[in-house]
Amino acid sequence: MDIKYLACSDLQFPLHDQRALDLWLKVLKKFKPDYVDLVGDLDDSDSVSRWAEGTPDALISVNAAGAKDTREFLKTVRQYAPDADIHLFDGNHGWTRHEQYLAKNAPQYREQITPNTLYGHEDLDVKFHYYQDLPFNRFNDMYIHHGNAVSKHSGGSVQSDMESWGVSLIRGHSHRMGTYFKTYELTGTELEGYEIGHLMDVKKCDYTNVRNWQQGFLYGHVDTDAGVHFLKLVKIKNYTCYVNGVRYET
Ligand SMILES: [Fe+2]
Ligand SMILES: [Fe+2]
Repeated sequence: MDIKYLACSDLQFPLHDQRALDLWLKVLKKFKPDYVDLVGDLDDSDSVSRWAEGTPDALISVNAAGAKDTREFLKTVRQYAPDADIHLFDGNHGWTRHEQYLAKNAPQYREQITPNTLYGHEDLDVKFHYYQDLPFNRFNDMYIHHGNAVSKHSGGSVQSDMESWGVSLIRGHSHRMGTYFKTYELTGTELEGYEIGHLMDVKKCDYTNVRNWQQGFLYGHVDTDAGVHFLKLVKIKNYTCYVNGVRYET
């Protein structure tokens, strides 16, 4: 089977870069991937920290900016890719943060509020993966997870997680773009790793002053019969990118 693959990560709604996001959506519409992966930190869930200091009632709002934007984004992704197999991987932001807050401050609501309450993915047939889950085997020997490790070096974060899990991996979390490859000749093992950048507006992010980050995403072609895949990182420059030889701009 031949599969066209498209992924993005770390939109951090409402700290997203709308123009970069529109660019990725243009690619989605035209490239028509069979598999779409949203690799985590879609919802920045920064409001949770505000809720922690503010009114407890606000915590059950499904209209917190990050959750609402994520919900609307998922609808758009489904609309542009009606037949695609779409997976949403939670990050350390997103549901993880909401859940931690609920567990600590309002455990009585924990059973009523689920990831689907906030993101509405079930009706859209978008599959959800918890951040605490092990990486998910998506195709061939390739696994997907938002990512645990953070290295300050491009490619270092995915290398570290690949060493932890011993598999090929696509991940986000570092907000950097990078690759890591490892070949074991005697066992015939070839591991491939990708950290796929972010789509946020760096200017809206004031929680660090070292933003060694790259805006971009990943696409590729997967041949499941031969067990091989051809994946490519796409760096966005001036809201322009190339996918499959086609120029996109917003
Ligand atoms: Fe992130
Ligand atoms: Fe993250």
